Amino acid sequence: MKIQSEYSGLTDIKASSLVKFCTESGYGNDSRLKKLDEKLGGVITRAYDNGEFEGKLNQIMVIYSLSRLPSHRIVLAGVGDKKRLNPDSYRQATGTLSRIPAIKSSESIAFFLDTGDIEKISAAVVEGFMLGRFEMLDHKSDRDKSQEKTKNIRIIGNNPSYIPRIDRGISYGCVSSDSVVLARRLAFQPGNYLPPRKFAAEARTLAKKHKIRCRVLDEKQIRSEKMGALLGVAQGSAEPPRFVILEYNEGKANMKPIVLVGKGITFDSGGLSLKIPEKMPEMKGDMQGGAIVLSAVIAAARLQLPLNIVGLIPLAENMPSSGALKPGDIVVSRKGKSIEIISTDAEGRLILADALDYADSFEPQAVIDIATLTGAALYVLGYSGAPILGNNKKLMDAIRSSADATAEKVWEMPIWDEYRDLMKSPIADLKNSGGKPAGTCTAAAFLENFIGDWPWAHIDIAYTDMEKTGQPYTPKGASGFGMRLLIHLLSNWGN
Ligand code: BES
Ligand code: MN
Ligand code: ZN
Repeated sequence: MKIQSEYSGLTDIKASSLVKFCTESGYGNDSRLKKLDEKLGGVITRAYDNGEFEGKLNQIMVIYSLSRLPSHRIVLAGVGDKKRLNPDSYRQATGTLSRIPAIKSSESIAFFLDTGDIEKISAAVVEGFMLGRFEMLDHKSDRDKSQEKTKNIRIIGNNPSYIPRIDRGISYGCVSSDSVVLARRLAFQPGNYLPPRKFAAEARTLAKKHKIRCRVLDEKQIRSEKMGALLGVAQGSAEPPRFVILEYNEGKANMKPIVLVGKGITFDSGGLSLKIPEKMPEMKGDMQGGAIVLSAVIAAARLQLPLNIVGLIPLAENMPSSGALKPGDIVVSRKGKSIEIISTDAEGRLILADALDYADSFEPQAVIDIATLTGAALYVLGYSGAPILGNNKKLMDAIRSSADATAEKVWEMPIWDEYRDLMKSPIADLKNSGGKPAGTCTAAAFLENFIGDWPWAHIDIAYTDMEKTGQPYTPKGASGFGMRLLIHLLSNWGN
């Protein structure tokens, strides 16, 4: 599928489907919509008057032009209240229309843009389209039959000066949506298809393709690194752990790297602190943080960001077996801190502990970890956004502003001394669970023990990682939440 920019007047466009975005304010002050209406013999006026189409967000109307215009169909896409208009309105509207039969059967689709922040809107249109129509077909035997009819997409501005802005938006939107698709596909991969070995192999292949340096520590090397916490989690599984290190260096030589750390539990059964059956199937996605980190480093390379970035992905499968960690066991982390295992289901923080400690060896300017870490995140913000915790106002502000820009919502939670106290063990330095209350905060209080003298932020994507009902540009299943936020953050680093 090709995505290109073009300069044209609205009524001259020839496509299988011409998409015109409409606000709730109607055609009254939209002279182009009015002209379109005239050419179509008043059908749009009729639809507005009847209340059949009002431009409400995510409302769609398909009109056959019957040769009254060069395009076969005119698709009106509601972006809602003019006062609340922002790039996400376009992302949503495009996501919604990406799945309707008229669009799916269109060979060519033209999106006409009137005004606004053309670059951001163009990116949002590409993202909405690519993400809204995403389907996980890897394991469907008839996947090759589901033919892709759309061959080209054009984003059209009515002013030649829009072209460079549209082009920039398209390139950004392609990278960001490809990244989300990759993260979703990896997260959707069943545990048996993507154990740590396979994830690491996939990372190696992708890194090579994008000229990113990639090292993979195997079990023996993980042992010589003394990553006792990661090894502890992995010891219950027949699948050995891996530790992926990605390095992208396009920043100045003296620029300290930004280190991204992603939780890579390829399946979380809970271990001997076994999860209930209902909660288990989606635990194949417990490596979504890792998938996002891999995908973010690739995105940085594709966008040629002038940064040095390190991606760290500790990978393990959390299983119960006679060799598994037992509640009450003590492991010693790479940093030398001893950890009493209260629950083998609190495994994410264990593998992150060793990864965060490893991050210190890169003398980072900042470290951000992203993880499907605590079920308690659901009780903090529900499915709507992710709790963030950290130690540096500037970094938190930057994350918040990227969250606003990408409509991937976050809210900061505190790390108080009470939470730190809850993670102390009577017989070891720390314990891995502080119980149910404030579970998201106590998990971060645990992680804090493994960070160095650098700004650090932790993003807990438990529950936002899986879309339950389906949203305009997020179909049911793995969401890739946090991916666009991170790309935005890296793209605007230092601004
Ligand atoms: N992977 C889970 C967290 C999770 C739950 C992610 C639901 C997505 C959806 C994590 O490893 C876990 O099991 N956490 C425990 C920690 C507890 C034992 C302290 C939890 O949240 O119950
Ligand atoms: Mn767990
Ligand atoms: Zn987990």
